[in-house]
Amino acid sequence: MSQMVTEWVNVAGDISIIARESGEVWFHTKQENDPFAAPMTGAGAEGSTIRLLDGAINLGFAAIEQHLAQPAPTIPAYILALVGAYHTSVDTPRNLRRAAKRFEDLGRPEVAAYLEERAREETGHDRLALKDLKALGVPGERLVANLMPEGIAPLCKRFDDLCVEDYPIGSIGYSYCLERIAALKQESDIEKVQAICPEGVDAFRFLRSHSALGSEVSHVEETIKFVASLPANDRISIVRATYESALIMAQGYNHELLKSDAEIIDEIERAIGEPLTYRRGPSHLRDEKAAAQSAVPAE
Ligand SMILES: [Fe+2]
Ligand SMILES: [Fe+2]
Repeated sequence: MSQMVTEWVNVAGDISIIARESGEVWFHTKQENDPFAAPMTGAGAEGSTIRLLDGAINLGFAAIEQHLAQPAPTIPAYILALVGAYHTSVDTPRNLRRAAKRFEDLGRPEVAAYLEERAREETGHDRLALKDLKALGVPGERLVANLMPEGIAPLCKRFDDLCVEDYPIGSIGYSYCLERIAALKQESDIEKVQAICPEGVDAFRFLRSHSALGSEVSHVEETIKFVASLPANDRISIVRATYESALIMAQGYNHELLKSDAEIIDEIERAIGEPLTYRRGPSHLRDEKAAAQSAVPAE
């Protein structure tokens, strides 16, 4: 009978994540005579690899858990989120192809093929965000050309950097982090945004496709399978990149979520060079006072 796989990765300082194929996972602090002090060298298994990757995301988000912003959705915040969605997807195919080419040159055609496939799947996702902005009546092209949300910029930079490394395996960890978090979004999350938008407007193409209802779930499953098949050194690098991406993402998303509508509207108006008008949903009708305070010109 084959032995149950145990995988571990030291992600930060003394902290390692340990996962068993059976599903157990825990965070481990370095001890004397630590059996997990040396890097793992064995083969991976899907059951343990997924828990390492998800453990890395949880650890990254744990740093801000206490002050995680969870504001009720508003249209300006949704517009800004679509701008962020555009920026995190516009360069993805090009970046992944660059990393794929590097693996081709390094004699790792299986990694190159995986990255090429991902690049194909991600192509056109920036257009979804632009279409959504258009559906809301916002000049999307001008907006994204002039506005890179502060919390999103470090995330995009991280991905750019990972993809141009000499050995760009960390790009897989970054992508996993982004896709895994998107795949957590359920139909009810989409409905919450739909509820604040005007009836009959379809401004949810990006959100739908980057949720449990879209292709993200299968992307995540394919990635877990692929990462589990890689040598230990690659798995270690990918889990670390997942953790680092989660840290940057947690801080960046929180930074964006903490903005008030007035701040967001100001940013958007500076970017488009004119007052922001957008199609309004039922929340506007319910709360005229709040709308008046936000000083958004009516349509
Ligand atoms: Fe995507
Ligand atoms: Fe995806």
